[in-house]
Amino acid sequence: MASETAIRAESLGKSYRSGGAEVVVFNNLSLQVPRNERLAVIGESGSGKSTLLHLLGGLEKPSSGKVLYGDRELESLSDHELDNFRNREIGYVWQKPSLLPEFTALENVMMPLLIRGVRHSEAARTARARLDEVGLSHRETHRPGELSGGEQQRVSLARALAGKPNVLLADEPTGSLDFRTGESIVALLTELHSLHELTSVLVTHNLSIASRCDRVLELRKGGLQTPSDVGVQVAGVKQDATRLDGGTYV
Ligand SMILES: Nc1ncnc2c1ncn2[C@@H]1O[C@H](COP(=O)(O)OP(=O)(O)O)[C@@H](O)[C@H]1O
Ligand SMILES: [Mg+2]
Repeated sequence: MASETAIRAESLGKSYRSGGAEVVVFNNLSLQVPRNERLAVIGESGSGKSTLLHLLGGLEKPSSGKVLYGDRELESLSDHELDNFRNREIGYVWQKPSLLPEFTALENVMMPLLIRGVRHSEAARTARARLDEVGLSHRETHRPGELSGGEQQRVSLARALAGKPNVLLADEPTGSLDFRTGESIVALLTELHSLHELTSVLVTHNLSIASRCDRVLELRKGGLQTPSDVGVQVAGVKQDATRLDGGTYV
């Protein structure tokens, strides 16, 4: 089943109207992500990485083209069906952990399950298992404000995976963290990708993450390309990672 396609984007276009002018982010972008692949998307700031992730995750609608998960086309789903689909099928991790500040770590992780109507006791049991996987069992009663940035990102990861999604979409998940904390999140992403048999699309500035993915694509001038110089850059990252002051971010 390894060759099965999990996510397919066909001739995607996305434009924004901004101050009377049209900003074309991309206009004919196609992509296939095989099941269980770990795909890194890199690219300069403003190249459209977040936009692409939002379209793949059904958080924004394309101006043209379509996104398919198997034979399900996101465009054809009603808002309610899309909400359900996202809740069950996709886990999201953002650069900023975006946890609910008034709830504990455990409650934050339970949230996607409660939203889909899972019983409280069962949601708590599942959330505890996810918190255990990210090494934070001992912090379940802590609120986000009592956790470090790295710990908050671990809780976000646990929350993203609480509902057993098939797909993980992460937008610069280490972007707010120092190098070493970022590295521990990368290690965790790797572990959880295998453990939960995920298909992962990771948008990243961090070439250390990119170097550990199955495939790296660069978003440039509205298209996805195989980066020709990534091998060299990755070698640079490995060198830099041995420095005490951290590694390389492009
Ligand atoms: N809501 C919006 N309205 C207008 N322009 C937008 C909007 N969102 C993104 N853009 C523009 O689309 C381009 C791609 O943005 P983004 O996907 O955030 O890039 P990246 O994540 O690679 O930094 C940028 O030029 C940005 O200014
Ligand atoms: Mg972005």
